[in-house]
Amino acid sequence: MSFRLQPTPPARPNRCQLFGPGSNTKLFAKMAASAADVINLDLEDSVAPNDKDMARANVIEAINTVDWGNKTLSVRINSLDTPYWYRDVVDLLEQASERLDQIMIPKVGCAEDVYAVDALVSAIEAAKGRKKRIAFEVIIESAAGIAHVEAIAASSPRLEAMSLGAADFAASMGMQTTGIGGTQENYYMLHDGQKHWSDPWHWAQTAIVAACRTHGILPVDGPFGDFSDDEGCRAQARRSATLGMVGKWAIHPKQIAISNEVFTPSEEAVTEAREILAAMETAKANGEGATVYKGRLVDIASIKQAEVIVRQSEMIAG
Ligand code: COA
Ligand code: MG
Repeated sequence: MSFRLQPTPPARPNRCQLFGPGSNTKLFAKMAASAADVINLDLEDSVAPNDKDMARANVIEAINTVDWGNKTLSVRINSLDTPYWYRDVVDLLEQASERLDQIMIPKVGCAEDVYAVDALVSAIEAAKGRKKRIAFEVIIESAAGIAHVEAIAASSPRLEAMSLGAADFAASMGMQTTGIGGTQENYYMLHDGQKHWSDPWHWAQTAIVAACRTHGILPVDGPFGDFSDDEGCRAQARRSATLGMVGKWAIHPKQIAISNEVFTPSEEAVTEAREILAAMETAKANGEGATVYKGRLVDIASIKQAEVIVRQSEMIAG
């Protein structure tokens, strides 16, 4: 490890973030009753321009009146290139109760975007005497966002989570895709005449995970658009979990169980991790730094890998 230690991310479950448009009040109670760890009430792209004021008022009312249980409650505001975002922040901070946990800032392209929102939020919190500090989460969904991802991850002590937004990201990058996440037909290797599909989101995901882990932030995979394709969604979520992401968005209730399943370490994985830790304890007692577990090498690095799984499982179990 570097002399500069890797900070620990917030110890709260973030397996599934369920989205719903702020203009669709019928969904709020269903979202609150769902099994998602995080609720994202949306003021941005699922709300039509003419509905922005109405959605903002709905969301504030819902924060103040709906029983959200122990979920992390977040509102996605509009991006900083719109005329809406400042009103989103001002009204939320002035009118929403302290039940509001987090603000999601979309389309962040540089650390200064977060700084601007931080300045406004900080002033209103002080003016209104709010006791609970609002946390931030951001979406990386542009070429600038991924180019500046590390500076963005370091931008504010309020920042707790960072998601990849595949659709806007693809558009900003000029990618020839229309699907939101998942396998893309034309992204394949050819070997012996056989197509082998690769993952076009891989680089952006790993860049986000590295930036997040460097700065103690939760890396999250964004939406999977085809909510009729459970297996495609599960495959995308499994790739994300393998790369170190802690959760995924749901844009339909069908996707919640998939995320909860994939991002909760399985019983077998936890058992194996505990067995590796036990094997390493025995090795240590024998003065050895490495040993054999099920025919494979395990060493001191294996302890850290196993601890990731055990810690995640214990944190989720609460
Ligand atoms: N949260 C909670 N419940 C939801 C929901 C959501 N996001 N989306 C749908 N439901 C409910 C429906 O109300 C319906 O409930 P019912 O059985 O009591 O009638 C049930 O789940 C089945 O819904 P379904 O008919 O399959 O979908 P729909 O046509 O009503 O809605 C969408 C489809 C995509 C429009 C809707 O899921 C949605 O708005 N998703 C969120 C979009 C969003 O927030 N995007 C921004 C982030 S990318
Ligand atoms: Mg987007």
